Amino acid sequence: MLIPEFSTPISGATRLAAVIGDPVRHSLSPAIHNAGFAAASLDWRYVALPVAAGRGADAVRAMDVLGIDGLSVTMPHKADVAAALDHHTPAVEALGVCNCVFRTDGGLVGDNTDGDGFVAAVESETTRRIAGSTVVVIGAGGAARSIIEALGRAGAASIGIVNRTVSAARSAAELADAASVVDLDAVPVADIVINTTSVGMLGGPVPDQSPVPAELLTDRQLVADIIYSPANTQLMIDASAAGATVMGGLPMLIHQAVAQFEHWTGVTAPLAAMSDAALSMAARARA
Ligand code: ATR
Repeated sequence: MLIPEFSTPISGATRLAAVIGDPVRHSLSPAIHNAGFAAASLDWRYVALPVAAGRGADAVRAMDVLGIDGLSVTMPHKADVAAALDHHTPAVEALGVCNCVFRTDGGLVGDNTDGDGFVAAVESETTRRIAGSTVVVIGAGGAARSIIEALGRAGAASIGIVNRTVSAARSAAELADAASVVDLDAVPVADIVINTTSVGMLGGPVPDQSPVPAELLTDRQLVADIIYSPANTQLMIDASAAGATVMGGLPMLIHQAVAQFEHWTGVTAPLAAMSDAALSMAARARA
């Protein structure tokens, strides 16, 4: 479904949500959220607003002034927006960056739904549970930090972090009691292996490569790549060949959006409609 069919035309009562970022024109979020609003028969619309670096706090004030009821936040505003808000979820308290702002009776609250979105993706797309699992995370950038913090709250038994730059891995390991810096030797004994680096990403520094040697993957594992373009990364191809369970990046993208949608509207998100929109937009972007 590329063009959502709204049962309500835009009127004076229509409520607005938006994503701020730079760049933001290629965001899949408008398609995902508008499909959700339409499927749930909500009189809401979602737009992408390019906002220059350094104007994140202004955008939060604008949200209040203009009565925007939901905000998604992407690069380069995640830290500025978190700093501009008085209220944060535990994820934002730990990470210092937010990807979502929602209204409560007590004021605007910043959340970071990326990590919880990853956990929800694993637990709804596979039979695996994070609680009690041994996990290896490849990478220690922004996405990795969100995931590591959420894995800790979800009760992972251990979270090993492998990263090219060891100081970044050490910093990320402070986000969860179960986390520590490891090397690739930890991969074969992990229940769940997650790539959060841009290795293998279309248009990234090293497309068509995998951050994990294929011989370290086993058929007992869930191997997740948060990259969604290409749909099948080299890591995912190698993991399938090893007999592992494989998950790509779209489920995390969808579930972080589901959490935002539910914060804003208080309504259970229509997962199927939002997934269909994400799948068709991602396929169109790759075409
Ligand atoms: P994101 O917000 O998507 O997490 P990021 O914060 O720039 O992006 O993090 C990128 C991650 O990919 C980092 O872990 C980075 O490793 P370094 O900390 O050593 O920079 C990793 N990365 C990027 N290119 C890489 C490459 N060619 N080889 C290995 N790791 C790479």
